[in-house]
Amino acid sequence: MSQVQDCVDVIHQHTKGFKPQIGLILGSGLGQFCDNMKTESSLDFKDLPGFPMAGVGGHAGKLLFGEIKETKVVIMQGRAHYYEQGQASIMAVAIQTLCAIGCESLVLTNAAGSTVKEASPGSVMLITDHINMTGVSPLFGAEGNERFVDMVNAYDPKLNDDMRLSAAQNNISLHEGVYAWFSGPQFETPAEINAVKVLGAHAVGMSTVPEVILARHQGIRLCALSVITNYAAGMGDTKISHEQTIAFANKAAETVEKILISYLKNQ
Ligand code: HPA
Repeated sequence: MSQVQDCVDVIHQHTKGFKPQIGLILGSGLGQFCDNMKTESSLDFKDLPGFPMAGVGGHAGKLLFGEIKETKVVIMQGRAHYYEQGQASIMAVAIQTLCAIGCESLVLTNAAGSTVKEASPGSVMLITDHINMTGVSPLFGAEGNERFVDMVNAYDPKLNDDMRLSAAQNNISLHEGVYAWFSGPQFETPAEINAVKVLGAHAVGMSTVPEVILARHQGIRLCALSVITNYAAGMGDTKISHEQTIAFANKAAETVEKILISYLKNQ
């Protein structure tokens, strides 16, 4: 039996067949978001074979099932990153499981550095496209023609519109742009940031892109938000650090939460 099927069985037994409409994968700082949810049940990643162990600070490592604004959701509180084990497919079982239990779409959030002056720390950016700077794919080793995934409109235009509307309903100005995925865990050099600015990136980070590729491989629709926690390397006066990322992710959490709650209400 595959790990995905094992996870589906565990979830079905535990949740008595709960079928979520939307899956949310929340990055740093958004742990409190789950307080908005009428939680019906939860599972630790450790009880789900193939789910990643909770890694970086601020990640709980739990899968929560419930309702927010009458929309049935499953929330993945925390994710794993490529840099943890050098394994780009580390989120494959998790993404496939979310699809297998019935999610019709995904919402991803992350923390990111901004390469544009307008998007200052504490602001939020809708990811409209990405640049993969790592040279790796979570689909290395996948078989079949489906592995040749079309990445045009990977960030779903209709869901992007829904996210824009949700921000507008809360009078939040939502930036938009291209997210460049770096492997990490080291932050970028100023030269790397200058390079991706030329390439057309508006934000940089160490996550999300593998999940987007895996999700599109499954054919599931998605949209993604970046919480801007800092100006990218060489742009700001403050030293970039994980502590700063967490501090600003926490500060911006309320903004993201408002957008997400409206988004779920509108579904
Ligand atoms: N670079 C990469 N990842 C990040 C950054 C950054 O500047 N900020 C938050 N996550």
